[in-house]
Amino acid sequence: MLPARAGFRSAKVSSMAGRAEIIRTESVTKRFGGVIAVDQVSYLLQENEVAGIIGSNGAGKTTFFNLLSGYYLPDEGIIRYCGEDVTTMTPQQRVARGMTRTFQLTSTFDNLSVVDNLVLAFFRIHKKANLLQLLLHTCKSQRHEPKVVKALETFNLQDLRDKQVKHLSLGEKRRLEIAMAVIAEPKVLLLDEPLAGLAESEIQGILGVLRMHVGSQTILIVEHKLSHVQGFLQRLTVMHEGRVIADGDPEECLRDPEVRRSYWQIEVPPDASGAILS
Ligand SMILES: Nc1ncnc2c1ncn2[C@@H]1O[C@H](COP(=O)(O)OP(=O)(O)OP(=O)(O)O)[C@@H](O)[C@H]1O
Ligand SMILES: [Mg+2]
Repeated sequence: MLPARAGFRSAKVSSMAGRAEIIRTESVTKRFGGVIAVDQVSYLLQENEVAGIIGSNGAGKTTFFNLLSGYYLPDEGIIRYCGEDVTTMTPQQRVARGMTRTFQLTSTFDNLSVVDNLVLAFFRIHKKANLLQLLLHTCKSQRHEPKVVKALETFNLQDLRDKQVKHLSLGEKRRLEIAMAVIAEPKVLLLDEPLAGLAESEIQGILGVLRMHVGSQTILIVEHKLSHVQGFLQRLTVMHEGRVIADGDPEECLRDPEVRRSYWQIEVPPDASGAILS
């Protein structure tokens, strides 16, 4: 994955050989003036992988997400989605192909109820209807659409179904946002810090619903709080100053000397990694 350390990928990742390729970036670089926010990143995400990206502040995680989802164009490199070159495609073109990022669907309609937001998310993608038509005709009649009912159940939103989104707590809203992303049945779900700002109980709620999709949904999650997602990730990528410094089995990555130095900013013997993770 990383040109300078091509041998890093773990046995766990290589054992996924044969799975369909969802996202592949080839030497992607993004600069802002003199800052190289993403530096020659080559990355592969395969079908049904649950992968995470961590890195300290300014490591380039969000910029990399913005490149994947089309909010930024790279200065160099290629981004492929299911084999197709999407490097210069708009975010909308990528969403239409099944690449969904929670943040862009966070545009919840705060004056509408939880159930109507789910109806809109479902019909916008599946029926390709325009928003005005949906608002005028669809919401009421489709509140019992089986996929909407199932999403309310799966994401534990039944008790909130008629509540206006503006009255939800941050954790409830985050759960709704992920439900709205999932109901569109994306091929890949890109989650940028879905746990940020949440209380511990809310974090467990989000992780609970994400866990239900492990094995049947390709998920890429950027997270600061490694301790929360660690048991949940099959694969970890660590970024530092725009570069990927480790990629593979999470435990293995965290034992990597460069990760210990750059991410944890401490020199620790390899056998002390258990202490770091707890
Ligand atoms: N729009 C922008 N204009 C100028 N510089 C930017 C812009 N976006 C990001 N940067 C710079 O690029 C680098 C990477 O930033 P990025 O936001 O991708 O990091 P991050 O890993 O997401 O950090 P955090 O953990 O704080 O969210 C930083 O030095 C940042 O200041
Ligand atoms: Mg960020």
